[in-house]
Amino acid sequence: MKRWCLTIAAVGCAPVAAFANDWGMGDSNSKIPPSGVFNAVSTPAHEINTVAFFVISITAVIFLIVAGLLSYSIVRFRTRPGDDDREPPQVYGSNPIEFAWTTVPVLIVFVLFLITARTIYTVQAATRPAGAISVHVIAHQWWWEFRYPALGVVTANELHVPLSDPKNPTPTFLDLESADVAHSFWVPRLAGKTDVIPNRENSMWIDPHVAGTYLGQCGEYCGTEHALMLLRVIVEPRADFDKWVAAQKQPPDVDASVVYGRQVFESTACVNCHTIQGTSANGRFGPDLTHLMARETIGSGAAMNTPDDLKVWVTDPNVIKPGALMPAMNLGDKDLDDLVAYLATLH
Ligand code: CUA
Repeated sequence: MKRWCLTIAAVGCAPVAAFANDWGMGDSNSKIPPSGVFNAVSTPAHEINTVAFFVISITAVIFLIVAGLLSYSIVRFRTRPGDDDREPPQVYGSNPIEFAWTTVPVLIVFVLFLITARTIYTVQAATRPAGAISVHVIAHQWWWEFRYPALGVVTANELHVPLSDPKNPTPTFLDLESADVAHSFWVPRLAGKTDVIPNRENSMWIDPHVAGTYLGQCGEYCGTEHALMLLRVIVEPRADFDKWVAAQKQPPDVDASVVYGRQVFESTACVNCHTIQGTSANGRFGPDLTHLMARETIGSGAAMNTPDDLKVWVTDPNVIKPGALMPAMNLGDKDLDDLVAYLATLH
């Protein structure tokens, strides 16, 4: 499944993404859109790009030959005034022609097959070097859980990875599992799609060599909110990544001014689905909120992480993300304000 997805991502999505990307092209990374397969910044995406361009060039040549011959025939052999009604000479059976139109396409398909197989092998056979970061990705309806077992970090929807210097690569290897239905992990500028399937562990890797934020999206229809199962990958220089890891490992500050908000959190159904370290909440059904405010978005990219949007989200997630599995909490105004004030301290 994964192999087909690589190929389909390369061949099927490339032309669409090319148009989306054209007007943003420039030499500065910041001018380039954070998504789209034509501005690869990671080896697997580069490899797929190369195959995509190769396939497009070959098919473009085939198109020009066929369209050229067709146009020539339409013009050259059109009906002219004064033609008699006789049929032109009919040709039946020509071994050389039949041989040519069987052999040439077979050879073309065979070459495309070999090139694609070589790319799949290059991408999948990469070994995990000692300095690689390992992330366990768990897809849920409709959000992404990221666990860094060696670093003791758990977060959601926004994957932080270190910049990988081609001379001294520090790639990130992702092991992907699903908690419910089939999903697909796709960040076009970093790698092809990898399906995330229940009761199966797939793996993939990225080695981003340009810092920045790259947008991704679940690539397999997985229910109502598939389209808002967004993700972002934040690629940062090693020192910044280490700082992020250190901050994520800290327990959240205990702020005396938000004690009541914390009580609201601990006394409602929030605790069944969410974890906040240092509280009684250790649910795994929803995202870990220990460092909620370190994330730019809420609802898996459905809204920005602002106090106003948090209020709307907690009151009724369906307003932002219809079909979201988190129930509407319908708290009173004071409880809601206190709860959001507490959440806003979770840096
Ligand atoms: Cu998850 Cu589509």
